[in-house]
Amino acid sequence: MERVFTDYLGEWKRSCYCGEPRPDSVGRELILVGWVQRRRDHGGLIFVDLRDRSGLVQIVFNPEVSQAAHEKAKQIRSEDVVAARGMLARRPPETVNAQLSTGEVELSVHEIRLLNASQVPPFSIEDETDANENTRLKYRYLDLRRARSLAPLMLRYRMTKKIRDYFDSQGFIEVETPVLTKSTPEGARDYLVPSRIYPGKFYALPQSPQLFKQILMVAALDRYFQIVRCFRDEDLRADRQPEFTQLDVEMSFVQPDDVIQVVEGLMTLLFKELKGIDLKRPFPRLSCDEARSRYGTDKPDLRFGLELRDFSQCFRKSQLKVFSAVLESGGIVRGLSVPGGASLSRKELDELTAFVGNYGAKGLAWIKLADGDWQSPIAKFLSDAERSEILKITEAKSGDLILFVADAEKVVHESLSNLRLLLGEKLGLIAQDQYSLLWVVDFPLLEYDPEEKRHVSVHHPFTAPLEEDLPLLAKDPLKVRSKAYDLVLNGVEIGGGSVRIHQVDLQRRVLGLLGIGPEEAEAKFGFFLEALSYGAPPHGGIAFGIDRLVMILSGATSIREVIAFPKSQRAVCLLTDAPSPVDPKQLKELGIKTTLGD
Ligand code: AMO
Ligand code: AMP
Repeated sequence: MERVFTDYLGEWKRSCYCGEPRPDSVGRELILVGWVQRRRDHGGLIFVDLRDRSGLVQIVFNPEVSQAAHEKAKQIRSEDVVAARGMLARRPPETVNAQLSTGEVELSVHEIRLLNASQVPPFSIEDETDANENTRLKYRYLDLRRARSLAPLMLRYRMTKKIRDYFDSQGFIEVETPVLTKSTPEGARDYLVPSRIYPGKFYALPQSPQLFKQILMVAALDRYFQIVRCFRDEDLRADRQPEFTQLDVEMSFVQPDDVIQVVEGLMTLLFKELKGIDLKRPFPRLSCDEARSRYGTDKPDLRFGLELRDFSQCFRKSQLKVFSAVLESGGIVRGLSVPGGASLSRKELDELTAFVGNYGAKGLAWIKLADGDWQSPIAKFLSDAERSEILKITEAKSGDLILFVADAEKVVHESLSNLRLLLGEKLGLIAQDQYSLLWVVDFPLLEYDPEEKRHVSVHHPFTAPLEEDLPLLAKDPLKVRSKAYDLVLNGVEIGGGSVRIHQVDLQRRVLGLLGIGPEEAEAKFGFFLEALSYGAPPHGGIAFGIDRLVMILSGATSIREVIAFPKSQRAVCLLTDAPSPVDPKQLKELGIKTTLGD
């Protein structure tokens, strides 16, 4: 049966939020408004938990106080919207709820106005809910009524407010850059927007405001920042969304250290004010090479040890062909020494082997050390010299487990860095309330992409080479280091930036090394190259993933929890059903025909 509520708020003004009443207001008349969390009938009394964004308060209907209000209250269901006028009373001591900020008081209702009835919600709107994520995203407006879902958005708001205040205090200016623009290469696919006025032509949504912020430096803005939406059409993961928000920063007349100082100041402030944590400055720095060889990744989680061990020398002439053959063909053998890991069962070791298989490893050799006994499928191939070398490298003792992967460097690093994280979790080595911030520096400028068969930028094409490495550009471009830096928090890359190329000739040369010839450079970046030629100052900057930062600081496990209306893992907005088909008339106006169904 459909219930229709026809009361209006009328002249009533809300006295305070539901989460606010305290014993010092007992005896006062209050008007409270909100959503019904639950109604409980106890004999003559009806109790309703009334909720708004600030919390819950109990309101009570006693027929001896108001017969009319009590009658009306019988119709109330969860998620109805009501307004109640009454007297704030102290709860009898045995009914005080210590879990609730308003748990010592209740509103004894004189009059109730039923403002809007709700359908039965598809899930119960309480901290613990059984609804799956897709249902919560489809009904995100109901999900956000839960304090637990709202909390990351509150933190996000407080963070962006503090970011704006900080940059303002440092003399930065926030400038908006276009959303309908031209492609900015950041390594993902572009989202394209067709032009109606110029059929067959397209805008691209920005992957970042990179070129505009550099042009703002040419325009003498000197210090720019922006909290800005970016768009990247790439495969989604737990920490990636097709549209996400960057804190984008650019400064003139700087070296990497100047940018790093500004960022460390910001992070110190955010951690102090949002989490009450004092960060130690300067933040640690690792070169990209060192990070890769010690942790197998350029974004290591430093909250725990379990560093990679290198066995390449040890097995060069080994009887163990799976290892020596890999070394012979230019691969490497690395592994982990896991304290106490000998207690892992055969089944658990099989699971770890399957896990590294996801990253292309062809196997996971293991040795369990137990009182001088080497339990291992490879033990019989190991010479005494190799055994003592393994013990030296791993410093392993009885009860420990040693794991090995032999393969091309990329496979070994990807398998072991992920295995390291998995074991860190599994063995409880990661303190959940600890934060580890780290700069990774000295990235190479270029790397070779075997699929595209050309050099690609490690950061992006506008990153400056280290001046001392400039002579290598012609001779050995893969050896050239760049002025790029990444900020890593608990193993997640939260920010990346660089000092840029500000001289047009060098920019053309680097584009050339990337296989972008003069004509293509002109077509894609002509406007930018021209801007560089009108007195571009030396400049550099950085951009942060705001969503990722909020995700970590709020303890969320997915980036979707910190975005009001996120896309699902399959890049769909479940609330609106975007992307969706469009009217054929719209396509016609745009001069677009799809090949679907051809
Ligand atoms: P970069 O591509 O490293 O640099 O991006 C900067 C930061 O943005 C975040 N990020 C993302 N967050 C969520 N979903 C995504 N799909 C996503 N992609 C990136 C990451 C990343 O560290 N223009 C340069 C910055 C510069 O050089 O100043 C840039 O965009 O946290
Ligand atoms: P096999 O001789 O293929 O049965 O392998 C013996 C052991 O070595 C098994 O535990 C395999 O998982 C492991 N193994 C095989 N190939 C590799 C490799 N490329 N890297 C590490 N371990 C491997």
